[in-house]
Amino acid sequence: MEKREQLYEGKAKKVYATDDPELVIVSYKDDATALDGLKKGTIVGKGVINNQMTNRLMARMEKAGIPTHFVKELSERDTLVRRVSIVPLEVIIRNLSAGHFASRYGVEEGIVFPEPTIEFSYKNDDLHDPLLNAYHAVALGLASWQEIELIKKYAFAVNDVLKAFWADCGVTLVDFKLEFGKTAQGQIVLADEISPDTCRLWDAKTGEKLDKDRFRRDMGGVEDAYAEVMRRLLAHDGE
Ligand code: TMP
Ligand code: ASP
Repeated sequence: MEKREQLYEGKAKKVYATDDPELVIVSYKDDATALDGLKKGTIVGKGVINNQMTNRLMARMEKAGIPTHFVKELSERDTLVRRVSIVPLEVIIRNLSAGHFASRYGVEEGIVFPEPTIEFSYKNDDLHDPLLNAYHAVALGLASWQEIELIKKYAFAVNDVLKAFWADCGVTLVDFKLEFGKTAQGQIVLADEISPDTCRLWDAKTGEKLDKDRFRRDMGGVEDAYAEVMRRLLAHDGE
């Protein structure tokens, strides 16, 4: 399957058409942004890691009965996926307090919740991805109630699979962001990526951050952190 014209360029990926109207190729870049694109940088090798990590995790989701857009890895940075229209919601699941949850509610990071939380934000950089609830999403025509219920069910199911897998790797899954897409047939599927860009991953023993917060917070050691989580994933994948 070959790349045809570029359809879209996002902050971390490009999307290309193929000869099949129902399939597109995503190509992962090393570009990193934070603060709604205001802060820009490069994380060398990130595109390769995020592509390969996402694909392995998407395959696990499929195995667990969660439909995804994943079709086939084509190369280090390129993957064939089903063409979807992205539901403009960022779906965030949290197992521990961190990031915006901690700052918004004035609590410390690292509080373990009795059960996972879910929140939605409107995927719109110009508006700084404002938080919104299901009623708002329906009012704005972003998704139907049935779609939102399905998205919630899938998001918690992703959390169950992902949390257990990362625990086996000695990594605490703190929180993560998912995006869903709708196929031409109207099926809701998990899309986008699952990577250290979109998850908070802490070393289970030391609490060391092994994710994009090292870039967001100028902590250094960004490339090493991505390589470390990928190494741990590969050591436990295929079990
Ligand atoms: P937050 O605490 O900043 O709301 O982030 C929650 C999770 O979502 C965290 O794992 C990082 C991820 N995330 C993204 O993938 N993209 C974004 O634009 C933001 C703000 C967060
Ligand atoms: N990806 C987001 C941006 O560039 C932010 C983030 O991941 O923190 O704005």
